[in-house]
Amino acid sequence: MDERSPSLNPLDETAVARLVNEGLDEITAATDLAQLKTVRAAFLGDNAALVLANRTIGSLDASDRGAAGRNLGAARKALTDAFAAREDVLAAQYEARVLVEESVDVTATYMRHQVGARHPLETLQEEIADFFVAMGWEIAEGPEVEHEWFNFDSLNFDIDHPARQMQDTFYVDGTTVGGEHPADGNLVMRTHTSPVQSRAMLERGVPIYVACPGKVFRSDALDATHTPVFHQVEGLAVDEGLTMAHLKGVLDHFAQAMFGPEAKTRLRPSFFPFTEPSAEMDLWFPQKKGGPGWIEWGGCGMVNPNVLRANGVDPERYTGFAFGMGLERTLMLRHGIADMHDIVEGDVRFSQQFGIHGKGR
Ligand code: PHE
Repeated sequence: MDERSPSLNPLDETAVARLVNEGLDEITAATDLAQLKTVRAAFLGDNAALVLANRTIGSLDASDRGAAGRNLGAARKALTDAFAAREDVLAAQYEARVLVEESVDVTATYMRHQVGARHPLETLQEEIADFFVAMGWEIAEGPEVEHEWFNFDSLNFDIDHPARQMQDTFYVDGTTVGGEHPADGNLVMRTHTSPVQSRAMLERGVPIYVACPGKVFRSDALDATHTPVFHQVEGLAVDEGLTMAHLKGVLDHFAQAMFGPEAKTRLRPSFFPFTEPSAEMDLWFPQKKGGPGWIEWGGCGMVNPNVLRANGVDPERYTGFAFGMGLERTLMLRHGIADMHDIVEGDVRFSQQFGIHGKGR
């Protein structure tokens, strides 16, 4: 018997009434159904004083049994009724609380899975491809691990010419197999997209109008304006009667497509082994820090007759022009990106700013 179940004399009306009052108090004090269940076990469970007392009725004098039965019966009814009433109240409260706490707002916006974003260099390459295709040009691609012959020799870089060192080349280990020519068998990570000029001429013949976007490699350290892996787009046109005027027209048109109607280009004399004459190409840049001005955008020139010859094109009949510019640089200028790290680090929040078409509009 626990402390709640002291033996109770079924005929002791005062003791029974005290027990009932105690029970009623605890019923009222119970604030949830679990507490109420505990209280019920204490007052009406198998070991409760009232229940145990009920079992002793049989051993009372026959004349007392009626009074004892009524006494205990009334007490148990009072408590049972009170439990039922309290249970209704607490159950209703529970229902009401669950409705609020576990309610689902079907109109609320939910956390969608973070979707990725297309890198602006990818979308820029598509934008550029669209521009050239709209002019009737074709897109040509070549391998990133390139034969030294395509990267240099076919482009009129003499084997001993210091121009071969102009671009800090990653040579691919263990690919030198020897041969007649000192460059036989060497593979390089292509240092520019110009080898695609050569491949395109050999594969497609002339006349040819191709744009070649792609990845290139130079042994530069990553800093705010350099990265060892970057992108260029190459343009090559070879046909009868092409002049530098055609080159200039294409460059201005391309500049306007990239930078808006105010854009224009200018050429400054320069040197590339694969073009003659050669020029550095500047872009008129109204947003330049410290006021509008010219800013270097790429290189260009008339295709060197040696290059045409090396790629099976008759330089007596055909002339051509070529140009190449960096895509990271184009992106940085166009969108005011100050640091190359933002372009290479791959933080999706950077890419998301450009939207799915890459223009940030
Ligand atoms: N390939 C040159 C570079 O990477 C750019 C260029 C392309 C220059 C075509 C002239 C003609 O610097």
